[in-house]
Amino acid sequence: MSIHIGAKEGEIADVVLLPGDPLRAQEIAQRFLHDPVCYNRVRNMLGFTGTWRGMRVSVQGTGMGIPSISIYVEELIREYGAKILMRVGTCGSLQRDVGLYHLVLAQSASSDSNVNRRRFRGLDFAPWADFDLLSTAFQVARERGLPVHVGGVISSDTFYQPDPEEWKLWARYGVMAVEMEASGLYTIALREGVKALTLLTVSDSLVTGELTSAEEREKGMLSMVEVALETASR
Ligand code: ADE
Repeated sequence: MSIHIGAKEGEIADVVLLPGDPLRAQEIAQRFLHDPVCYNRVRNMLGFTGTWRGMRVSVQGTGMGIPSISIYVEELIREYGAKILMRVGTCGSLQRDVGLYHLVLAQSASSDSNVNRRRFRGLDFAPWADFDLLSTAFQVARERGLPVHVGGVISSDTFYQPDPEEWKLWARYGVMAVEMEASGLYTIALREGVKALTLLTVSDSLVTGELTSAEEREKGMLSMVEVALETASR
């Protein structure tokens, strides 16, 4: 057991999908995994292990924001030996051509968070995705005919922005979308020498003010999880 994950040694797979919402973790496990077993209920941050086409896979909820995902990622890697970590989440589009339900693969993650400023003593670090995972996921998404974008995202500490115009600055520099966790995942994975990728479905647009319905978000989520699983298996 680690402090926040109640699994025994060996109960978590090398490949871990990371949705923010623990109920999403349960849903992914029930829909995609064969014989899923729940290994964590600490703080209701559910985690499951099962198999997908013979490959052992875990799905672990992370909560929202860099501080929360960082706790789970640190423990998954250091205490349970996770090797491939893929966040599967949603994002807000910052570009007109990044439409609702499109798939965004986060090549890099800028941030307004102070976490890496502290880590790097005021210097700037540019967290990036594992290139093998990124290029494979892009190929898988293309083969499936999904609308897919590869580029930078911004991992924000605030869902409700203090300055409602600030996103335009990131957009001006080509950042595709806003979410809240990728920077934390990438930074820790890079330090620990393991592979990480963030896959996102666009759930809202800061450009047009559009929002997706729960039903449509569900559909986007399912095809994104298939891309993540197929990517891990190649
Ligand atoms: N996740 C989905 N939409 C988001 C947004 N607009 N801001 C931050 N995270 C998000």
